[in-house]
Amino acid sequence: MTPPDSAPKYTWRHRHLLGLEELSADDLRFLFRTARGFEEVSTRSVKKVPALRGKVVVNLFFEDSTRTRSSFHLAASRLSADVLELAGKGSSMSKGETLTDTARNIEAMGVDIIVCRHNQSGAARHLAQAVNCNVVNAGDGQHEHPTQGLLDIFTLCKRWGLDDTFDLTGKTVAIVGDIAHSRVARSNIYGLRTLGAKIILVGPPTLLPQSFKDLGCEISHDLDQVLGRVDAVNMLRIQFERMTSQFFPSVREYATMFGLTAKRIKLAKPDLLVMHPGPINRGMELDAAVADGPNSAILEQVTNGLAIRMAALFLVINAKP
Ligand code: NCD
Repeated sequence: MTPPDSAPKYTWRHRHLLGLEELSADDLRFLFRTARGFEEVSTRSVKKVPALRGKVVVNLFFEDSTRTRSSFHLAASRLSADVLELAGKGSSMSKGETLTDTARNIEAMGVDIIVCRHNQSGAARHLAQAVNCNVVNAGDGQHEHPTQGLLDIFTLCKRWGLDDTFDLTGKTVAIVGDIAHSRVARSNIYGLRTLGAKIILVGPPTLLPQSFKDLGCEISHDLDQVLGRVDAVNMLRIQFERMTSQFFPSVREYATMFGLTAKRIKLAKPDLLVMHPGPINRGMELDAAVADGPNSAILEQVTNGLAIRMAALFLVINAKP
């Protein structure tokens, strides 16, 4: 299988992409460089390369998704793989079949890569141990969402002109909101830290446990105090579906303290980059004026996600453990 022309020489050893915690700085940089090589494919009139021709990728999603599912589907199609879409609802999982049994049955049809999203933390690792094919984690509970972390960091590096070194030394990124329930936060923390960025986590104490200090992050409960010190903010969605009790008095109160409004953004550096993994609760984490304004990199994140997922699929299947 031919790598993109611009792919540098490096031995990629990970048969599965389960989280950014286990990737080294060299791994991250190699993946980003591979993504750079694939970016050009999306600009062609025929948006396809034969890198995964004859391979089968299954999207196995047990949680709702718009961006991630369609991005993986398109990424696999652009690599010329066959793609099978499966959802938890409407599959035999709803009849009581275990994740392992479902996955083994899918694998028995000659599948090469399973892309899995599940509401249980650890589901992707469990799957990787149960099957022989490659597994890519598309979000497991509150644990990790590695391709989201990768596309976020790739977007930052491109915007900052650091897409040759992918070295974030000297840059500060704030991750704001529901840190406790966020797999996006965890993946960003691991990846940003590995590439040398300083990380400030911001949120109400109920959604931001002190234990996150152990991951090397500064912790703050005051967004206004932090805004002037950061180069980018990643605004997280409040994960109502993962909350078992009430973590803040009201949506209005949350928005007043932690929402990025047109007024509040004036406290930030003029070239602050604003990111959000989507879906946005407009008026809660972000005002429409900020989400659609000049500081926003939100749609670039979506575009960059394609090249990142092409790189992820390509690398896991060609891994040399
Ligand atoms: C994230 C997810 O599902 O973890 N969204 C995404 O993948 N684009 C974040 C979220 O749902 O808040």
